[in-house]
Amino acid sequence: MLHNKRILLIVAGGIAAVKVPDLIRRLRERGASVRCILTKGGAQFVTPLSLAALSGQHVYQDLFSLTDESEMGHIRLSREADIILVAPATADMIAKMSHGIADDLATTALLATDKPVMIAPSMNVMMWTHPAVQVNLETLKARGVSVFGPGAGDLACGEVGDGRMAEVMDLVSALGRHFQKQRGDGALARFRIVVTSGPTIEPIDPVRYIANRSSGKQGHAIAAALADMGAQVTLVSGPTQEADPDGITVVKVETAAQMLKAVRAALPCDIAVCAAAVADWHVADVSKIKLKKSTAPPRINLAPNPDILATLAQPGKQRPSLVIGFAAETSDVIEKAKIKRAEKNCDWIVANDVSPGSGTFGSENNTVHVITAEGVQNWPTMTKREVAEKLADLVATFAAKKL
Ligand code: CTP
Repeated sequence: MLHNKRILLIVAGGIAAVKVPDLIRRLRERGASVRCILTKGGAQFVTPLSLAALSGQHVYQDLFSLTDESEMGHIRLSREADIILVAPATADMIAKMSHGIADDLATTALLATDKPVMIAPSMNVMMWTHPAVQVNLETLKARGVSVFGPGAGDLACGEVGDGRMAEVMDLVSALGRHFQKQRGDGALARFRIVVTSGPTIEPIDPVRYIANRSSGKQGHAIAAALADMGAQVTLVSGPTQEADPDGITVVKVETAAQMLKAVRAALPCDIAVCAAAVADWHVADVSKIKLKKSTAPPRINLAPNPDILATLAQPGKQRPSLVIGFAAETSDVIEKAKIKRAEKNCDWIVANDVSPGSGTFGSENNTVHVITAEGVQNWPTMTKREVAEKLADLVATFAAKKL
């Protein structure tokens, strides 16, 4: 979606500007060209040299620079782009944009442009919730500016709350979706896809439960990558720390039984990806009251949970045309995954090593083997986001040929 797209990136003066080099790298990896305008404030956090080195282009800073103006006037700068992204967008930049102030190169280019504008706000939580900022944002939104983020979390100022600039890869996805929408399609635009993600948890009593180490990172990334290709995605997720991906229907559940119910409610679909680490058992006799430690240690009776993947993959009218499972193994990964693929009747299985030494659970990286009827693809170690994008590409290729 980003191939050959020209992005004018305006970097304002916030600590999140330190994420910009990575943003440029990710955009260029996807074939976009990035030209930067660096404000005076932005230059306090990143150097023009680093932005120039990463973007491979001159970095523009000064409205009244004779050399810059003769090489590339500010009007041309604002027009020779497919989109302008302001990241980070500070409270000051948002205020100037909302009031039409043009007192430097960045704000002048923003006023002179006829191109879509997206902003990624970043500031302290109190500043973010201040009515002045919110009113300015409403003004910008009413004028068609897309506002992406901010997210919640630890802020550089030491406070916690809304105000963190959107993560780099989420910004990349948002730009991709923008161009996809503009094109009116995507490789998976016709398809309904259900993705399961995260752990399930099984209660023991009102305060205790059995859980597992799944973070939901891989499943959520897959849902986002499929949506980026235009699919209509329903993500059924157990409890995770992951943010809900943009543009996706998210159904939050806790137990395996709830997950199966939610998956069934999302049918019919064309494709299903079961990335959740579903608990294999639930507690047969969940105590309605909190178990007390004064009594003897309780005996916990477990009963089997439904297998969501196997249920989905059963032959029948509602079977999705492509059912993809995961196999979390700690030894003989490929052999065990092949057996799982056959036993559960799924079309593809993505096998990964989750043994303690592999560092898969909770980490950003994954090393997977994709097993299909045609054979085994061994993918090198990459980020979970990259695994998701590669898997989404494979799904799109399959869909184009077979669905
Ligand atoms: N799965 C499922 N429902 C379950 C158990 C697993 O849908 N009750 C799915 C997972 O989402 C994954 C695949 O089955 O796509 C394999 O899960 P995994 O945990 O690797 O294997 P299990 O089937 O649980 O078998 P085991 O624990 O014995 O390895």
